[in-house]
Amino acid sequence: MTVLRDSFQRRINYLRISVTDRCNLRCIYCMPPEGIPLMPHSEILSYEEISLVLRVGAKLGINKIRLTGGEPLVRVGVPRLVRMLSQIKGIDEVSLTTNGTLLKRYALELKQAGLSRINISLDTLKGDRFRRITRFGELGDVLFGIEAARGAGLRPVKINMVVMRGINDDEVQDFAKMTYEEGWHVRFIELMPFADVAELVPSSEVRQRIMSFGKLEPCSPVTGNGPAVYYRLPGAEGTMGFISPVTEPFCSNCNRMRLTSNGRLCPCLLSEDYVDLKEVLRGSASPQELERLILKAIASKPERHHLADGIVSIKQNMSQIGG
Ligand code: 5AD
Ligand code: SF4
Repeated sequence: MTVLRDSFQRRINYLRISVTDRCNLRCIYCMPPEGIPLMPHSEILSYEEISLVLRVGAKLGINKIRLTGGEPLVRVGVPRLVRMLSQIKGIDEVSLTTNGTLLKRYALELKQAGLSRINISLDTLKGDRFRRITRFGELGDVLFGIEAARGAGLRPVKINMVVMRGINDDEVQDFAKMTYEEGWHVRFIELMPFADVAELVPSSEVRQRIMSFGKLEPCSPVTGNGPAVYYRLPGAEGTMGFISPVTEPFCSNCNRMRLTSNGRLCPCLLSEDYVDLKEVLRGSASPQELERLILKAIASKPERHHLADGIVSIKQNMSQIGG
């Protein structure tokens, strides 16, 4: 297999692909209430264009991908895209991050199309609070979605909780309980300071709060390509992961690149740099030229971000770059 490395000798094998900038929710940490100016449909890459990028990427050494948004399932035909991408030679795993609201409708179709795994964002187990955090979502839709995903065999389902002080941090123990009551795999994520909504709760503090109620046994990840550090409560089927981009940065192990829905290949979530692939895709569509641009983007991957120093250079919303 080809091994792709950046200028800091990190192996790059993981591509996150945002399929749309649209979303059916407006989470407070991700979007302003009125939403964001949307890209015209003509700017958004077609599924054929995304496939071409990935065919070239797979030859270079990308073997795992994740579809994101906005909310990926608001785009028509995502199962068709999953099928196209999972059939590309060299691609071992296609996963999806979703807010879960539309999963009841799509879980089975996604599984049948070749989806390997799913992550569902869920920040609270309280209905009224869910409506406040997402601005108009229904908690029941997500809970049905989680069950639908499990029922369809998309296991393990991982639940992502962004912990925000004074907003949902009183629920970390309730989420921890779900690892043995429901077998959920919960990941506690530190809030990144894109919008001024709340203070982050350091992962060390979240761990402390859970330890006051149960023992944390370190364990290996169930699956995944990511930066989480895993623990388990004694006897629980599910695990707990801690993702700490601010207090325990994991840039030195970063293995990923990001493709935005309008065809920009971004070397880092927290930098404004990108290489535009759309022009080539809509012009010569030459694989050699695409390969050159992909390698150029990888070569520009920065060594690390500076969130811990309070420096956030990014002006895009999370929904535009894909979480
Ligand atoms: N900090 C941390 N995670 C975030 N997400 C969106 N915005 C932020 C932020 N500011 C996460 C969501 C979801 C994924 C798409 O990105 O919770 O899990
Ligand atoms: Fe939508 Fe996800 Fe952003 Fe919430 S965090 S508004 S679900 S893209």
